[in-house]
Amino acid sequence: MKYLIANWKAHKTLHEVNQWLVVFMEKIRTDSHVQSIIEEKARVVICPPFPFIPIVKNVIPQGTSIFVGSQDVSMFDEGSNTGETTAKMLSGLVRFTIVGHSERRILFHESETTIEKKVNLAKQYEIEPVLCIRDEKDLIHNKASIIAYEPHEAVGTGHFKTLNEVLEAKKLLRLSPHMNFIYGGSVNQHMCRVYFENPEIQGLLVGNASLDPIQFFQILSQVV
Ligand code: PGA
Repeated sequence: MKYLIANWKAHKTLHEVNQWLVVFMEKIRTDSHVQSIIEEKARVVICPPFPFIPIVKNVIPQGTSIFVGSQDVSMFDEGSNTGETTAKMLSGLVRFTIVGHSERRILFHESETTIEKKVNLAKQYEIEPVLCIRDEKDLIHNKASIIAYEPHEAVGTGHFKTLNEVLEAKKLLRLSPHMNFIYGGSVNQHMCRVYFENPEIQGLLVGNASLDPIQFFQILSQVV
C-alpha cells in the first residue's frame, strides 16, 4: 500500500478548492485503472488549508481510500489558545495530519518538544501523524508511523532527490520496522514512477504538483 499525500500549503480560495475537487473526482470517475489503484494500492490523503477541510471531506466518498488530512495541528489540547486548531477539533474530520513540516520548523520556529506534543495529541485523538523530517538530525518521535523524508533543499525548489539519494538517506534514519517511509520534495508526474516502484519507499508527499488536479491525478495513476 502506497501513500500519496497532497499538501496544498497556504494556497487556494473556496472557489479554487471546489474546482479542484470537480476535476479530480471526474477524472477518477472516468478512469477504471485509477479506480483500481485507489481500491487496491493507494491511500490518497488530501491536506487542504484548515477552512477547506470540511469541504473536501464532504466531496470525497466515504469508505474509499481517499482521506482528508490537515497540514498541522495544535500543540495544545482544548483551552484558551486563541486561533489554534486542536486534534480534538480535527478528530472525526481528518484521518491524518502533517506534523513538523520544514516550513513550520523554519518559519514558525517549531522545536522538537512542540513537534512531539503534536504527534502525541494527534495519536490521542486517533489522527495519524505524518512526521516530516529534513534529515537524520531531526528526531523521529516513536509514536509516528509515517515518516516523510523531506530534505529542505528539495522542498519547493524543483530539485528533487534521486531515488538513490533517498535510499541512502533512509539508511541513516534507522527507522523502526513499524514505520512507513515516504519521500517529499519537488515530486512531479515525470519522476514519481521509480519511487512508487521501489519497495523501500511507501509513498510520496506532493506540494506544488498537487495544486493542479490533473498533475496530481497523473501521479496517482502511476502508483504500482
Ligand atoms: P514540493 O513540496 O512538492 O512543492 O516540493 C513538498 C512539501 O513541502 O511537502
